[in-house]
Amino acid sequence: MRVLSGIQPSGELHIGNYFGAIKQMVKLQENNELFAFIANYHALTSLKDAEALKKNTLNTAITYLSLGIDPNKSVFWVQSDVKEVLELYWILSSYTPMGLLERAHSYKDKVAKGIHPYHGLFSYPVLMAADILLFDTDIVPVGKDQIQHVEITRDIALKFNNEHGEVFKLPQYKVDEEVAVIPGIDGAKMSKSYKNTIEIFMEEKALTKRVKKIVTDSTPLEEPKDYENCNVFALSKLFLDKEGIEDLKRRYKSGKEGYGHFKLYLKDLIWEYFKPYREKREYYLKHIDEVEDILREGAKKAREIAKEKMEIVREKVGIYSSEKGFKNA
Ligand code: ADP
Ligand code: TRP
Repeated sequence: MRVLSGIQPSGELHIGNYFGAIKQMVKLQENNELFAFIANYHALTSLKDAEALKKNTLNTAITYLSLGIDPNKSVFWVQSDVKEVLELYWILSSYTPMGLLERAHSYKDKVAKGIHPYHGLFSYPVLMAADILLFDTDIVPVGKDQIQHVEITRDIALKFNNEHGEVFKLPQYKVDEEVAVIPGIDGAKMSKSYKNTIEIFMEEKALTKRVKKIVTDSTPLEEPKDYENCNVFALSKLFLDKEGIEDLKRRYKSGKEGYGHFKLYLKDLIWEYFKPYREKREYYLKHIDEVEDILREGAKKAREIAKEKMEIVREKVGIYSSEKGFKNA
């Protein structure tokens, strides 16, 4: 199966992103053909600082490579390296009824949050449809907020196919219902918009400080503690096997340790778990040229597929090319 995923280059990633999305993506590359790209054109709709966008693009590439995207198993590139996507975006625009976009929740939510209602934000789902359809994608793994975008993609593909035959594959979305919502340090969903995150690659001191801020109840040290409603426990669980979880439950029930102990234990779990990834990141930070080579290679592979697809699409809609001339058109 061809699985395609777009990643917004939106700065530092947190452990909610890791357990909610990245870990699954890394696993998917074992038995599927994973196509993963950094959606920097999409990011323009919300980020209008050139330096920040460039920095985030590189940082996101390094983060994903460090966390396990394997360029030998997957195709990994930056969206803007495959310009065909913009041509397809325009062509698909002529097959996208306004009503389809006017119903998009994501647009309305973003405008409600104060993002300016530029045309780019409005037509965001058409560019996403181009990303997906250009590569004959079978499956798009997404969070719940992105389901509607995949449905819009299917609608656009159907409209096009109805006029021109089976040009586009209809993609399916895949939502991982098993993945729990990872709580932040205040107990609400961990999210950068709530400022309650624990970043994957924090410095050790900052990590300790952040973990100490996790909200707990005020059960005194010598009393048994309720692990079921404890944010520290919920986060620790992510890093433990069954035995480790049982052991931690016993420690909560024993009433010999306070939340301070459990917090330091959690900090150690996080620090140890990400250690190999941190080392890989250090490596890539010192070898940016290697990251660039990987992205260049990925773009080349993606472009080959994109070029073939666009030949078909142009032919179907009658777009002229001087290379071919009128006689062969
Ligand atoms: P944020 O809420 O921090 O802005 P994004 O919306 O950019 O995060 O999410 C990127 C990916 O990480 C999505 O697939 C989303 O489902 C997943 N994700 C984000 N936060 C969490 C969380 N707290 N628990 C589980 N998954 C999450
Ligand atoms: N809109 C997606 C998000 O915000 C990112 C994205 C862009 C994407 N193009 C895509 C995801 C294509 C899947 C497929 O997370």
